[in-house]
Amino acid sequence: MATAKKVSVLILWFALVCNYVDAVGLRKRPVAGPDIYKGKNVAKDALAPGEKVVNVMSFGAKPDGKFDCTEAFMDAWRATCHTNVQSRLLVPQGIFLVSTMFFAGPCETPGPVTIQVVGTVLATSDISEYVNGEWLMFRDIAGIKLIGGGIFDGQGKSTWEFAQNCETDPTDQCVRSPSSIYFNNVTNGLIQNIKSVNPKGFHFFVTNSANIRLRLLKLNAPATSPNTDGLHVSHSINVKISRSTIETGDDCVSMIQGVNNVSITRIKCGPGHGISIGSLGKYPDELEVKGVRVMRSTLTGTDNGIRIKTWPDKYRGAASQITFSNISMENVKNPIIIDQEYECQPNCQKKPSLVKISDIIFKNIKGTTTSPIAVDLRCSKQFPCQNVRLQNIDLSHGATPAGSRCANIKPIYVGLQKPPPCP
Ligand SMILES: *[C@@H]1O[C@H](CO)[C@@H](O)[C@H](O)[C@H]1NC(C)=O
Ligand SMILES: *[C@@H]1O[C@H](CO)[C@@H](O)[C@H](O)[C@H]1NC(C)=O
Ligand SMILES: *[C@@H]1O[C@H](CO)[C@@H](O)[C@H](O)[C@H]1NC(C)=O
Repeated sequence: MATAKKVSVLILWFALVCNYVDAVGLRKRPVAGPDIYKGKNVAKDALAPGEKVVNVMSFGAKPDGKFDCTEAFMDAWRATCHTNVQSRLLVPQGIFLVSTMFFAGPCETPGPVTIQVVGTVLATSDISEYVNGEWLMFRDIAGIKLIGGGIFDGQGKSTWEFAQNCETDPTDQCVRSPSSIYFNNVTNGLIQNIKSVNPKGFHFFVTNSANIRLRLLKLNAPATSPNTDGLHVSHSINVKISRSTIETGDDCVSMIQGVNNVSITRIKCGPGHGISIGSLGKYPDELEVKGVRVMRSTLTGTDNGIRIKTWPDKYRGAASQITFSNISMENVKNPIIIDQEYECQPNCQKKPSLVKISDIIFKNIKGTTTSPIAVDLRCSKQFPCQNVRLQNIDLSHGATPAGSRCANIKPIYVGLQKPPPCP
């Protein structure tokens, strides 16, 4: 008894320390090695000759949605990861109840290890089991595919009412709800053709990773569910997100410090809070955000469209080389927004944000807005936004014309401007 208690205290302490390290961002962005998926048809999945299939049912998992399959999954993972032949973990048809799990590498299996989920993986609902912070944690893995058309059900409904809002909490004391799928220190990761419903926290959280592709995903949670970001990315390089539908309660995609070279194409977002960079400037020594391209995407009924947000009166940071192009919006509240007074308006009296924003392009953005300010650009008085270009903007607000608002910025206007430029 006493030992068990000591162990759980130790686990809790470890979790807290790890969260602290996460929060203050002591980690560095990984270095990207060769991209093994580049130029390959990743849509195709075929068993490699001699590939070993490790079925969770062979390790005692029961597909009834009631039996706790955590141990069976862990044993199956070890058999998949620690073998010298190509192998894949198979979750067949059925509902498999599992608690929080660590899919730890490095793996000895050559080539990417595959996890093929055909059925439903269902999270246990008791939040006290989640002291490590996330539900399914993939860590220290070089080469992984998560595929199969299956569903990850986070059973968040029972926990949402207790969720703390860490995004708008300016301190780092906040305890985030567990993300459903967490990639940490993963290189060459492919997540494809997977559904996520009702996560307790984020649907997917990618950090410290490189060469990651997320495609053909369907994410769903109610518009009212708290902090259920679709794809949350930090400290990662070369991330490609495409062809996915995200209906959720928070940002469809959120990118914070340390992201570099992210492309987002053909996303359907809404309901949700849009596609966001930030909030930035929350923690000391934040790594910059650099090279983000959002293209050919649609936002429907979202709070924000495309947004960069930074905290006033806090830490340094930077966001540069960001392009939003060919985006259509339908009934979006704040279609184009740079907000350097995050959680501090109207009439923000705090010291200006220390995050530098530069080289931003908004190009071919069209659709409808539900608020009179369609283009809202409020930059820092201390570091005015540099080189922000608006090109071919066509946003209407019913019968009444929409407007623009600018502070500490001199946008470069090219082509059609609807709403009209700032005075
Ligand atoms: C990251 O994962 C690789 C295996 O892919 C491992 O060798 C390395 O030690 C890990 N790095 C850290 C900082 O844990
Ligand atoms: C950016 O990432 C993509 C893959 O997502 C990769 O193909 C490309 O080479 C990267 N660009 C740079 C400059 O590293
Ligand atoms: C955006 O749309 C224009 C005109 O329809 C097209 O020429 C251009 O290639 C598109 N760009 C991207 C990045 O999809």
